[in-house]
Amino acid sequence: MTTDTTGTAARNGEPRRGGPADSPFVRACRREPGPHTPVWFMRQAGRSLPEYREIRANVPMLESCRRPELVTEITLQPVRRHGVDAAILFSDIVVPVAAAGVDLDIVPGTGPVVAEPVRTAADVERISPIGRDDVSYVDEAVRRLVVELGDTPLIGFAGAPFTLASYLVEGGPSRTHAKTKALMYGDPDLWHALCARLAEVTLAFLQVQIDAGVSAVQLFDSWAGALSEADYRRFVLPHSTYVLGGLGAGVPRIHFGVGTGELLGAMGEAGADVVGVDWRTPLDVATGRIGPDKAVQGNLDPTVLLAPWPVVEAEVRRIVEQGRAAPGHVFNLGHGVLPETDPEVLTRVVALVHELTARPER
Ligand code: CP3
Repeated sequence: MTTDTTGTAARNGEPRRGGPADSPFVRACRREPGPHTPVWFMRQAGRSLPEYREIRANVPMLESCRRPELVTEITLQPVRRHGVDAAILFSDIVVPVAAAGVDLDIVPGTGPVVAEPVRTAADVERISPIGRDDVSYVDEAVRRLVVELGDTPLIGFAGAPFTLASYLVEGGPSRTHAKTKALMYGDPDLWHALCARLAEVTLAFLQVQIDAGVSAVQLFDSWAGALSEADYRRFVLPHSTYVLGGLGAGVPRIHFGVGTGELLGAMGEAGADVVGVDWRTPLDVATGRIGPDKAVQGNLDPTVLLAPWPVVEAEVRRIVEQGRAAPGHVFNLGHGVLPETDPEVLTRVVALVHELTARPER
């Protein structure tokens, strides 16, 4: 749609409509009506795609995140293939932490592994502040992508302080987050010092992406669901609020976690425009907890994509209907695409959501 067909800009002297800021995705984030419910998938760029596996064949994960031409190509792959309404930057939550001087690697099949887990105040001190020059490859990749993507919005992202702290304290992925919680309960001062340092790194990393032109950002607090609401409010909320509040309202801010049904209200309060919801909480229930001034994102169980199509279709229809209770809905999974997912099913889901939610243009 252009101003020529609506005449709006001509009347109001506003800039030309169109472009990513006027896309269905950004409109839904801002709780504005759009032509259809937008769709993207967490981990849409990744191992479910043969073209991804091919291009990554001999390149370690962290290195691939530092090569702007590779980042650009991998980010574009799911947009070309599925027709999703947004791209998400190909990177990883530990990229800024590595740029801050932490010795770590991303091990295939395991995830981030930290050489010397954080134990002391001196360990926290060694996490350096970062600026644009420390992540110039991200700045360059975003600038290239904004040109390549045209009207399709690019989502920037970062890991939230709790989830990053979990990797740094545990030394790697953890099911119980036991060492992390032991530090949090046992030495709250050190905990807050660590999270404050991580919040600075995260805020700077997101600001680089915004300055380079991303249309929205998502803060991944993937493992925050391990906490009670009281502990979340005491130990985590101030730090995530620092990040989201520090960004201001220039681009929509999405705040996501897994198993966070009890935390949805608090995660909204941290300063989100959109709250990500996993598959455990129906979207109509979620929006009741989050309130009328925020959009929701979610929440198809990624394992449903492994079931026969009629099952997938029924679940997509249910989620679209429950999403109508929210003031804005971005269709997504409740967590990332599993590597064994048939990419053709993802393409069909995009088409189905668009078809079910198509609204006539004014
Ligand atoms: O498409 C996208 O969503 C963008 C790319 C993206 C990756 N990681 C690429 C990646 C994003 C947004 C992330 C964020 C991320 N990384 C999170 C938050 C999202 C979530 O899943 O909750 C977390 C917790 C991480 C840490 C991490 N990195 C894990 C748990 C793993 C998986 C380890 C494995 O191999 O199973 C990674 C590695 C990783 N990050 C891969 C990709 C495509 C797989 C590495 C590969 O392809 O070799």
